[in-house]
Amino acid sequence: MKNSRTLPLRLPHPALLLLVVWMAALAGAQADSPLEKSMQQMKKAYKDLGAGLDKPLESNKDTYLSLAETIKSSALTARDLVPELAGKLPPDQKAAMVKSYRESMDDLVGAIDALIKNIQNAKWDEARKDLSLLKSDMKDGHREFRRED
Ligand code: HEM
Repeated sequence: MKNSRTLPLRLPHPALLLLVVWMAALAGAQADSPLEKSMQQMKKAYKDLGAGLDKPLESNKDTYLSLAETIKSSALTARDLVPELAGKLPPDQKAAMVKSYRESMDDLVGAIDALIKNIQNAKWDEARKDLSLLKSDMKDGHREFRRED
């Protein structure tokens, strides 16, 4: 009782304050970067399109096209961002990595354009091949530019 009279504002226990600060720092460290967010968007549209093209229907063409357009716009956004790995390099190496990353993303966008054309022409076998190509581009890109967790 004596304490509450001398201390008008009762502060939380220091250990509790520390815990809150620590949890906030942890949440910040794990937040997705803008590049990760674009990649996640690509992944979702890629998965949905893959499922659709398993048993494609002409009547669903517009849905497939809009998924492919989502993959493309996410790839274009990702293209102009900088991989976290590059940010950790000295400036000259960073510039070289960003250049090479952008070239790879441009190749990816080219592959997505081919995919869009094949969907427009209802060439489903070709479109499925394009999707496999995107997957191998993804694996190569991740091997080269993604940090190891
Ligand atoms: C359809 C193709 C692709 C898909 C679906 C995809 C998907 C993803 C996903 C889901 C992540 C987040 C991983 C995580 O949260 O741990 C990611 C991260 C990443 N991806 Fe991709 N990716 C694709 C193509 C590429 C390509 C072609 C490149 C490089 C040229 C690339 C470079 C990266 C990098 C650098 C990261 C780490 C993010 C960062 O450094 O901030 N990805 N990708």
